[in-house]
Amino acid sequence: MKTILITGAGSGLGAELAKRWAKEGHRMVIVGRTKEKLTSVCQHIEKENATCLSYQCDITNPDDLAQLTKKLKEDDLNIDLLVNNAGIGTFGSLEELTISDIHHVIDTNVKGTIFTTQAFLPILKERNGRIMNIISTAGLKGKKHETVYVASKYAVRGFTESLWKELEGTGVNATAVYMGGMDTPFWSHSNHISDPTRLKSASEKARQIIEEDKGQKEIFIDR
Ligand SMILES: NC(=O)c1ccc[n+]([C@@H]2O[C@H](COP(=O)([O-])OP(=O)(O)OC[C@H]3O[C@@H](n4cnc5c(N)ncnc54)[C@H](OP(=O)(O)O)[C@@H]3O)[C@@H](O)[C@H]2O)c1
Repeated sequence: MKTILITGAGSGLGAELAKRWAKEGHRMVIVGRTKEKLTSVCQHIEKENATCLSYQCDITNPDDLAQLTKKLKEDDLNIDLLVNNAGIGTFGSLEELTISDIHHVIDTNVKGTIFTTQAFLPILKERNGRIMNIISTAGLKGKKHETVYVASKYAVRGFTESLWKELEGTGVNATAVYMGGMDTPFWSHSNHISDPTRLKSASEKARQIIEEDKGQKEIFIDR
């Protein structure tokens, strides 16, 4: 049994990964900003007699992350796998995006992933743990009306590839995960995709990711 922490696991892919890994007997630690969403995912997992703990934390705030790692220590929870999944999108032509939209995407997807990884590295090093960064096919190729989102995912790709080199010999490794569109609340604030219900379910993508995961450096679900 491993202890797996997933950021942004109150909905979408994070929630589905948590449910599936819990079914395989792993202990889940789920993180997000909205308590009700996290509680509902944990209730689902606990109904199946698995363990789920939830913690409210905004990954863009290093003080929140410091509080989180402190609480985990107090609760005697070591983490074997950190899944950096929390992410948001903003879509439209570059000229249409507001400065605040741009900050929000970069703060969450890029700085949030970096701050979380930095906060957890000492814990992961104690356990020869692992980092899994949920990227997107947006980290593999440019897309129209996705400039800032794509830029954020390329940044996470570069961050992950640099971790491979920097963490050599530490016992900690990192995996980059690339997949295409999923029908999740991610799309609820945009008309960029006319019918998100035509996309694959997060449950199916979670199944594919877990099936493909052998601890390798890259997982390509879609290209
Ligand atoms: N949906 C797609 O088509 C698609 C395709 C490829 C890749 N992805 C990537 O997959 C990941 C998961 O997305 P999803 O589709 O599952 O979307 P989602 O359902 O909206 O899940 C994202 C989660 O992140 C949390 N979150 C956002 N900002 C946060 C913050 N500052 N601190 C902590 N948690 C935060 C949100 O919860 P709170 O608001 O409660 O914090 C939400 O539960 C993202 O990295 C996304 O870029 C999505």
